[in-house]
Amino acid sequence: MQLSERITGITGGGSDGWDVFLKARRMIAQGVAVTELTIGEHDIRTAAPVLQEMHRTALGGHTGYAAVPGTDALRDRVAARVAARTGVATTRDNVLITPGGQAALFAAHMAVCDPGDIALYVDPYYATYPGTLRGAGAIPQVIGTHAEDAFQPRVEDIAPHAGKARSLLINTPNNPTGVVYSRATLEGIASLCIAEDMWLISDEVYDTQVWEGAHLSPRALPGMAERTLVVGSMSKSHAMTGSRCGWIIGPQDAIAHLTNLATHTTYGVPGFIQDASCFALAQGDAFEEEVAAPFRRRRALAQDIFAGQNIVGLVPAQGAMYLMLDMRATGMTGKAFAYDLLESHHIAVMPGESFGASATGHIRVAMTVADDVFAHALRTLLDHAALRSAERAAAQ
Ligand SMILES: Cc1ncc(COP(=O)(O)O)c(C=O)c1O
Repeated sequence: MQLSERITGITGGGSDGWDVFLKARRMIAQGVAVTELTIGEHDIRTAAPVLQEMHRTALGGHTGYAAVPGTDALRDRVAARVAARTGVATTRDNVLITPGGQAALFAAHMAVCDPGDIALYVDPYYATYPGTLRGAGAIPQVIGTHAEDAFQPRVEDIAPHAGKARSLLINTPNNPTGVVYSRATLEGIASLCIAEDMWLISDEVYDTQVWEGAHLSPRALPGMAERTLVVGSMSKSHAMTGSRCGWIIGPQDAIAHLTNLATHTTYGVPGFIQDASCFALAQGDAFEEEVAAPFRRRRALAQDIFAGQNIVGLVPAQGAMYLMLDMRATGMTGKAFAYDLLESHHIAVMPGESFGASATGHIRVAMTVADDVFAHALRTLLDHAALRSAERAAAQ
């Protein structure tokens, strides 16, 4: 039987560079000890007190249907956190709780794009972006960035496409590049959205992982609260990836319509998950810093390891749990180097090309293994890059 174009077209066909990742998975299944630096998931588990709260409230009976837009307690807690961090008046009517940030990204595009509308997104991008936009019926159009700008978007690259587009999706702090968008970039993007009457969808799921500079939510810029949908999540900030709890912050009428969409799709998020999320948020900044601390430490290790050489270029890692490494001095593509590293040293990293053409010749390294294992893997990677680069020089 024929399936819809909407669903069969989501992946767009190609393997998108995920074959290195799949090869690593196959090697692990065969018993090979692979150092896994591909996936954006903490090496710590959800904290025991958060799980205890989940257990307590489930046993207490919070196992029925929960209110579709989210419990009042969690919506109030998220609204208060956002208001405190951005200074923008935010109430529970500006908040929809979703089953994770991914569902929020999809719902946000469903809310602003009609079928056939152009939806912009920035390359390098989180792997699901183009498929999410297509799944929502939009036509994804990519905006490139430049390695020489450390992948900070240029407003003049977005501007020529803005007039025809319904929305622009941005992500700061960024997966995969680690860039934190500057105030100037965000102000330029905001002016463009206002001038071209475009929605901004701002993916801020890494907002607690900032190592350099400061996170600025574009919703806080003048004229932007009415045209911005912010995507947030418990996944990265509280090590709760499996709990599937996220949110959309936006104008009240958009949230009311998004609640209708949720009624007809997810029918909300389990009450005991929301209670645990509320409890986790109530632990405050110190808890969030504790979850982020291993990545802050490993970033510092990487800076030491890559200092004083010019074979592997560490793109300034300003935020998020990844490093983007420029491997062009080896003469190899990101994909070729990733394969080579996996085969030679059983270290799995993602080719930059899997996140779009702008990251060609780069690899992404997730900082998600113990510090000593991480440091050893980076040193091995550097030695291997030096070997390949020397072989290349000798052959020339
Ligand atoms: C940039 C970005 N946005 C959204 C998500 C989705 O996260 P979740 O659905 O777990 O909240 C991820 C997950 O890796 C991500 O990297």
